[in-house]
Amino acid sequence: MTTEHEAIIESARAAFAGAATPAELENAKAQFIGKSGRITELMKGLAALPVDEKKSRGAAINQAKQAIEAALGERRQALADAELEAQLEAEALDVSLPGRVREPGGLHPVSLTLERIEQIFASMGFAVADGPEIESDWHSFTSLNNPPNHPARSMQDTFYVDIDGDDGIPYNLRPHTSPMQVRYAHAHIKKYAEAVKRGEAMPEIRVIAPGRTYRVDSDATHSPMFHQCEGLWLGENVSFKDLKVVFTDFCRTFFESDDLALRFRPSFFPFTEPSAEIDIQFQSGPLAGRWLEVAGSGQVHPQVVRNMGLDPEKHIGFAFGMGPDRLTMLRYGVSDLRLFFDGDIRFLRQFR
Ligand code: PHE
Repeated sequence: MTTEHEAIIESARAAFAGAATPAELENAKAQFIGKSGRITELMKGLAALPVDEKKSRGAAINQAKQAIEAALGERRQALADAELEAQLEAEALDVSLPGRVREPGGLHPVSLTLERIEQIFASMGFAVADGPEIESDWHSFTSLNNPPNHPARSMQDTFYVDIDGDDGIPYNLRPHTSPMQVRYAHAHIKKYAEAVKRGEAMPEIRVIAPGRTYRVDSDATHSPMFHQCEGLWLGENVSFKDLKVVFTDFCRTFFESDDLALRFRPSFFPFTEPSAEIDIQFQSGPLAGRWLEVAGSGQVHPQVVRNMGLDPEKHIGFAFGMGPDRLTMLRYGVSDLRLFFDGDIRFLRQFR
């Protein structure tokens, strides 16, 4: 190799080192071993030389070319390594970052109560029924022996909807779940008619109907939207005694305590006769000694049974309507009903 060759190799190395990207490197390569690169030009110059000189100078130029190719290869590898390094760095995951935790959700405390009520009554052979919250006047009142203009309607001051029913009276947001008594009977009326036709024993009605109800009421223990759970058991021989057994059993199971007294306090509802409020009393704990009202109840009025399309001699029994919101407050020791419906997650997550 001549000093000229060595100088070319040197400047090739410098040009390669100065190339910051693969494209720049390819451009630098062209200057030396491309079609009209400096080494290529030297090769072209060999043609005019005599054979001997051609041989020795050709070998020297080839050596220089190999040195340049080697330098090129090294620089290519170095650039590829750097690129990979940069990519790894850019795409790096910080495995030490704390994860994003998705906390499990939970049911609303009143939903928990409703589930509990359904489970307990299902275990006593009750079906669970669901019905409309926008209700006709006939279902909410008249079918329940509470005719238009009857003063007992004021017990259930109601929200009305701007749609008239068939009777010209506007629909209402149901003030109680009792319309479900008549709705449920109507929904199953075929079954009863067929039993009569076949001369079989009359099938019982044994159902609860939990759901939302509405009244013009708002304070620490009343919300304009609240929950009720209707209960209805009609058969040929169902009596007030059965109501006492069923409801006592329910309360003791619900509150997980046998240390619970029940009181049936005479009352009035147009759709039951006789009627009673059901009060409970805990014998121990923070609420001990106080009578707490949890339900209205009574023997289903014969006129209501007739409105169901049934024979009051064959379908005798009781109904009750209880307040799941109240039961939830008592079970968890919450004194303000509004907390349940404000949607404050700090309150609600405690029941998860
Ligand atoms: N519907 C009554 C109320 O809302 C409760 C009730 C239901 C009473 C069934 C007797 C029988 O106050």
